[in-house]
Amino acid sequence: MGTKKDSGMPQEMTRIISLCRRRGFIFQSSEIYGGLESCYDYGPLGVELKNNVKRFWWKEMVQMHENIVGLDAAILMHPKVWEASGHVQHFTDPLVDCKICKHRFRADYIENGVCPDCGGELTEVRQFNLMFKTQMGAVTDEAYEVYLRPETAQGIYVNFLNVVNTSRQKPPFGIAQIGKAFRNEITPRNFTFRTREFEQAEMQFFVKPGTDKEWFEYWKQKRMDWYLKLGIRPEKLFFHQHGQEELAHYALDAFDIEYEFAFGRKELEGIHNRSDFDLTQHQDYSKKNLTYFDDQTRERYLPYIIETSAGVDRTVLTILMDAYEEQPLENDMRTVLHLSPIVAPIKAAIFPLVKRDGMPEIAHKITADLRKRFMVFYDEGGAVGRRYRRQDEAGTPFCITVDSQTIEDNTVTIRDRDSMTQVRVNAENVATWLDEQVNI
Ligand code: GAP
Repeated sequence: MGTKKDSGMPQEMTRIISLCRRRGFIFQSSEIYGGLESCYDYGPLGVELKNNVKRFWWKEMVQMHENIVGLDAAILMHPKVWEASGHVQHFTDPLVDCKICKHRFRADYIENGVCPDCGGELTEVRQFNLMFKTQMGAVTDEAYEVYLRPETAQGIYVNFLNVVNTSRQKPPFGIAQIGKAFRNEITPRNFTFRTREFEQAEMQFFVKPGTDKEWFEYWKQKRMDWYLKLGIRPEKLFFHQHGQEELAHYALDAFDIEYEFAFGRKELEGIHNRSDFDLTQHQDYSKKNLTYFDDQTRERYLPYIIETSAGVDRTVLTILMDAYEEQPLENDMRTVLHLSPIVAPIKAAIFPLVKRDGMPEIAHKITADLRKRFMVFYDEGGAVGRRYRRQDEAGTPFCITVDSQTIEDNTVTIRDRDSMTQVRVNAENVATWLDEQVNI
């Protein structure tokens, strides 16, 4: 919808952070206590936006595929899971400490071999495991260490047989999950881009070995299409194929979907051909037979897995940054979020032009009617121009105004956020009209 222009890249980030704070999209966690570094809370508008992103992912990945089913696994898992997955051994980043100021850095981010903060000497590089540990069990003697999951994927792999045995799915089929993941990142940065607590939307697609390359190509394109459907500018999206040295320990092939942020071109999602690595590992460690038996061909095999792994918080940040515009008008300037109606927190705002002549009553009635199907917002405060501006900043695609003509012929104006043009629609038809614009 509408046009989106670059709005001065270097300051883009601070503007977004300020808008998020001001309008209640995203707050610093525990702010009244001075904040907790790299943890964020989604406010009233943010939670709607994030929920809409998750709903749209679920719709496109689960609802629209008869061979993909959902799962919601526990965050805490048996400690052996993380030995089998390779996380205990491999899920590390190279760490250095400054001997003078004691600050910590990822060794691969250091350019000149000295502390970037004070110029001090750095320690030798050591490997730092990114998993958070905690104790399980109330009695200290019996307590044992468990990890907060660093990815949702393992919850899917360990439930592979449960799903096969209960859902009548057979390869090629997928299991999808959205949930929190935790990583003790050495250098969290760039607002919600890299945090220690975040949400993933992952889908693991189980296929017969030999068909994996084909499915990998299929999912690569499908996932790119998903970002395009969200209205993200195509010229900002890229594929990046991992070279041999970049490939994770489980991957045969990997592509990232990247976005051109103000702070550089960065990963939004990973698409991986994980071969039979995961099921082989869990079969070895659990001593359970995880092979699939195809009763048509009488073959038994361990499926290969094609993984699509997206970050929900990164997607939300991308949507906000991509949608943001400071637009000069004739005598004015407006800040507008060109959010797709699919994800916009509020689908329509309803205004009585003035607070008299029966207009608030009609506007309330329209609001109550629309509320049954959409997130809507009633506002009668201040000049109508200011009310439009407030909704532009919140990314609300449509504003419905009850005016004096409404009293005469029962029509209202609907103003489009991006073009700022207005159409008159019969009040009775507003819900149907809105449904056509929003459910795209
Ligand atoms: N199961 C595979 C996996 O977890 P990954 O590339 O490590 O792969 C997938 O993570 C996605 O999760 C990333 O593309 C990113 O969107 C998101 N993600 C990873 N670490 C993150 C962090 N510290 N903060 C926010 N999002 C993160």
